[in-house]
Amino acid sequence: MTSIRTLLLELVDEHGANHIRELHIEVLRDKPGTPEHTIRVRLSEAVADGLLDRLGDGFYDVYAEDEGMTSVVSYPNRCGLWGNSRYRGNCDGRLFKNLVLRYGARKVADPMAGPGTTRDVIAGLNQYKRAGIEFWGGDLREGFDLTKQELPGRFDFLWLHPPYWNIVRYSDAPGDLSNVEDYAEFRELLMLCLKRCYDAL
Ligand SMILES: C[S@@+](CC[C@H](N)C(=O)[O-])C[C@H]1O[C@@H](n2cnc3c(N)ncnc32)[C@H](O)[C@@H]1O
Repeated sequence: MTSIRTLLLELVDEHGANHIRELHIEVLRDKPGTPEHTIRVRLSEAVADGLLDRLGDGFYDVYAEDEGMTSVVSYPNRCGLWGNSRYRGNCDGRLFKNLVLRYGARKVADPMAGPGTTRDVIAGLNQYKRAGIEFWGGDLREGFDLTKQELPGRFDFLWLHPPYWNIVRYSDAPGDLSNVEDYAEFRELLMLCLKRCYDAL
C-alpha cells in the first residue's frame, strides 16, 4: 500500500508546486480521513530529507534550485522522482538539477544516461518551470557508443556519469567501459570520452 509520504511525492511530481490544502484534498481521495496535520508532518520530513523544497508558507517544489548548495553534497536517501532506482549505479537527480539551475544551462547532454535520470529531471523542469531546456541523452544500451561516436551537436552543459571501471558490469559489448579489464586501457577510453564531451561544449 502506498504510504502518505510516497503519495505526496508522487502528487508533487505530477502537479508541481502545490499548497498543503490542495495536497490534502488529493490525499483524501486515496486515504479518506487523513488529518491535515499528517500532511504537514510528512511534508516537513520530506523537506528535512531533502526530497522537497519549501518555497513559502505551505508550498513545496522539487524543482527549485538549492541555492545554498556548495561543492560538498550528500543525498543519503535517493529521490525516487527521476530515473530508475533499481538500475545499478544510478544517481540521484538532485545534484544534476541544482547544477543545471545554478549554471543556467540551456542545452544539455548526457551521453551515458542509463535509464534516464537526467532526461526525467529536464522533462520535469520543462513541464513545471517552463524552463525550455533542450536535452539529448544517449547510452550504449540504446546503441550510442561514446568511445566511437561524437555527440550530436554542441551543448552548454555536459553530464557524464561513467561506469566505475569494473565495479558494475553493464554489458558484454566491446565499447562498454565497465567491460574493459585492463585499468590503463579503461583510463585511456575514459579520457577519450571526456575529450569528446569537452569538444561538444
Ligand atoms: C553509472 S551508469 C549511468 C547511470 C545514470 N546516470 C542513472 O542515473 O541511471 C553508466 C552508464 O554508462 C553506459 N556506458 C558504458 N559504456 C558506454 C559507452 N562506451 N558509451 C555510452 N554509454 C556507455 C552504461 O550502459 C551505463 O548505463
